[in-house]
Amino acid sequence: MTDEIKKGLLGIVVDETTISQVMPEINSLTYRGYAVQDLCEVCSFEEVAYLILNGDLPNSIQLNKFKKEEKANRNITINLREIINHMPKKAHPMDVARTFVSVMGLEDKETSDNSPEANMRKTMRIFAKTPTAIAAFFRVRKGKKIIKPKKDLSFSENFFYMCFGKVPQKEIVKAFDISLILYAEHSFNVSTFTARTITSSLSDIYGAITGAIASLKGPLHGGANEEVMHMMKKIKTPDKAKSWLIDNLNKKQVVMGFGHRVYKSGDSRVPTMKKYFLKVSKLKKDENLHKIGEIIEKEMLKRKNIHPNLDFPTGPTYHLMGFDTDFFTPIFVIARITGWSAHIMEQHISNKLIRPLSKYKGSKHRKVMLLNQR
Ligand code: ACO
Repeated sequence: MTDEIKKGLLGIVVDETTISQVMPEINSLTYRGYAVQDLCEVCSFEEVAYLILNGDLPNSIQLNKFKKEEKANRNITINLREIINHMPKKAHPMDVARTFVSVMGLEDKETSDNSPEANMRKTMRIFAKTPTAIAAFFRVRKGKKIIKPKKDLSFSENFFYMCFGKVPQKEIVKAFDISLILYAEHSFNVSTFTARTITSSLSDIYGAITGAIASLKGPLHGGANEEVMHMMKKIKTPDKAKSWLIDNLNKKQVVMGFGHRVYKSGDSRVPTMKKYFLKVSKLKKDENLHKIGEIIEKEMLKRKNIHPNLDFPTGPTYHLMGFDTDFFTPIFVIARITGWSAHIMEQHISNKLIRPLSKYKGSKHRKVMLLNQR
């Protein structure tokens, strides 16, 4: 045993995984051995979700069965709809999301069954119902009626439909699908590690995903995609971007959507998402945010040698698609449920209670005084 402290577990390998590999030295990320940019070229989000959860890409029979099951599980209960209807309208959608995943756990008869079969069934329910619940709150807080899911639509199409009542052009749906693929999994990041830590006490998948959502909310993790948008709204126009950045750096403030614990010379997911950010900007005939992004990226590299992470292009892309800024991280949740669930199942298969040590630096041993003597 060593007394050396590795704050933030920096550089510590805590377990093995077969789900994904982050290779910062070659700027690469693979899911089950497939490069993520190749998956984006060829696959739908449903195929990648299947891959992450099952270990292999599906053939067409397996994919159809998976899609059928997902569609069959999309409806949420009347009880949950009522709860969403009564959520405070000003609540952050991430707080709402962790609450309704917790409620789904109360409603599921299999919550405490941690067998691989039950965990897979519960994963499918969480995977299929979470977009419905997120879309329901998207509408409810605007005073609009909840739209029920539609079975003849794909995962991404259905999410747009439940939020806006219509499905946009296929290129927009494709860009959204790509963002879900890129957000789906990323090894031992903070929310996944949270989910694995909760699981390690043999707790259930609903608790682990509720905790993971709370962890993802933070601006140093998933919450950064929202912060990027707040930043871009403050900058407003490309001509203000450089001076805003210099001012921000002079104030020693962190620039959201930049930097990464693992990737130090570029996030492997960024080039693919940037391509789709530009496509969506052109389709929407609004390249203002893209231009601001280009300037910030160039100046950050020049002045700090820090590269953008995935949250940098996704935030403004979701904005152009019409989503409210505080719904960007809930969209990340929709995608990451696949990665979290795969890790929760992997943790159950080879579990060891996660319990690190700490170095005590508080008061020396003290005598307890009686109340009237203190
Ligand atoms: N803006 C300005 N400076 C930065 C940034 C940034 N975004 N990121 C890192 N740095 C600087 C730090 O100030 C530090 O400088 P110093 O050595 O002079 O003190 C140096 O780079 C190292 O940074 P650390 O924070 O120590 O690196 P760490 O690995 O702990 O942090 C993190 C990674 C938390 C992601 C950090 O880069 C950050 O805060 N980024 C902004 C938030 C963000 O975009 N998060 C999303 C992560 S990706 C995701 O969740 C999909």
